[in-house]
Amino acid sequence: MIKIYNKKETTTQNIFLFSEDDWEQEKSNYPNTEHFFNGKKSEVFIRTDSNEVNFFIGIGKDSKGFEIQAVANKFANDYKKNLQAVPTSVHSKLGLDLTEEFVKGLFLGTYLYPFEKSHPFWQENFELHFENISDDEAKNAALKTEAICNGQFAGMEWLNKPANHKKVDQISEFLKSTAEKYDLNYKVLNREESIKEGLGAFAAVNQGSSQEAAFTILEYKSEIENAKTIGLVGKCVLFDTGGISIKPSANLHYMKSDMGGASAVIGALITASELKLPVNIIAILPITDNAVSEKAYLPSDVITAYNGKTIEVLDTDAEGRMTLADGLSYLSKNYETDALIDLATLTGSSVRMFGYTCGAYFSNNDDLKKTLEKSADKTNQRLWNLPLWDIWKDDFTSDVADFKNISMKPFGDCIIAGKFLEQFIEGHENWAHLDIAGVAFGNVGYAKDKMATGYGVQLLLDVLENY
Ligand code: BES
Ligand code: MG
Ligand code: ZN
Repeated sequence: MIKIYNKKETTTQNIFLFSEDDWEQEKSNYPNTEHFFNGKKSEVFIRTDSNEVNFFIGIGKDSKGFEIQAVANKFANDYKKNLQAVPTSVHSKLGLDLTEEFVKGLFLGTYLYPFEKSHPFWQENFELHFENISDDEAKNAALKTEAICNGQFAGMEWLNKPANHKKVDQISEFLKSTAEKYDLNYKVLNREESIKEGLGAFAAVNQGSSQEAAFTILEYKSEIENAKTIGLVGKCVLFDTGGISIKPSANLHYMKSDMGGASAVIGALITASELKLPVNIIAILPITDNAVSEKAYLPSDVITAYNGKTIEVLDTDAEGRMTLADGLSYLSKNYETDALIDLATLTGSSVRMFGYTCGAYFSNNDDLKKTLEKSADKTNQRLWNLPLWDIWKDDFTSDVADFKNISMKPFGDCIIAGKFLEQFIEGHENWAHLDIAGVAFGNVGYAKDKMATGYGVQLLLDVLENY
């Protein structure tokens, strides 16, 4: 449990936060240190005295919340070997909001794969003492931080697992026990049930797999009456081989990360439940892998989706939009939601467009766009809006079905995919699609190779908190 107090007592481990301006004013109190420290962002200087260690951390100039969080995150990770599990005083002039961001960063920076709470911050004797926030504020910061860690780390952990450790049964077992723990409504449809229910597009992706399908619905109901309801759909392809339209082998191992949308949804759902947020959430995770086998769906197959629309499969590697199509229309047809948001590692096209800097997003509602962009800017889990003009629909109309699952043009596939998904929202007037292929899995401070970034959890939470 995270312990944070308002306390003033002598501790053997201390953290001093200095902005560049603070440092300018105070450096005369620390003779000689100015040759080593300026208060620049993420600068760290360690002063040891006979029986205490003082970490001076620079937070730069006018840093925003996400910057303070990032400084703390990096510090916790970089100094995990030097930090001790003892009461630790934090001396800073930050206000409440920035102090909360600092605390979040410290704890989010303890993540390593596999996550075992081995960092000194998670040990029994570690506690943080602040003088600049009250005891209640400290307690609240601890609760919030712990909830975010529990949510985000759970999502990251699943994303980071190798393909042979993230089988459908294993993640289903986890989701079921999570539902029990947080009192969520849990429902799952296996392959046979999905077919019976008419989830034809989702079932088509699963049909080549040796594993069951698990079309999963999780519901968090807030205790508040008349709370708004948010629908979330997360792409949950546990491994994407491409199917019969098989992917080249270079970098194929990264396709264990094709559940980045789901890991954001799982993280947000856990955190929201822990914080008892005053919104209802209906989360759908169409869980399957995209396998190659004699039973796999074939290019040219015509499939009937849940909403009755037919899809000509021209590329079995465009599987994400098949699973999401059914996820979206199932949610729209069976639940009343005030907003509908899907997140997916959907296209290489979005990665080629934006690299690792932001997700590409699409929406049919200007207010939702504003909400998303505000949260994205605030959390630094950036999003950039792309259009959904009708002209793109022509690119995927089919001669033998309502739609093709790809366009034949060699460009703009992330827009085509977004426009395709729009055909399955059943007239929902407040929908957004987040293509997070470039940002869910990538370079991180805690590992050498690409790993889960945690993208989406804080973004979704901020949206949920302000809805
Ligand atoms: N899972 C991939 C998209 C992806 C690419 C995610 C890179 C993360 C990093 C998706 O299922 C896919 O294969 N998309 C194809 C679509 C194409 C066949 C139209 C792609 O983007 O190449
Ligand atoms: Mg694919
Ligand atoms: Zn995929």
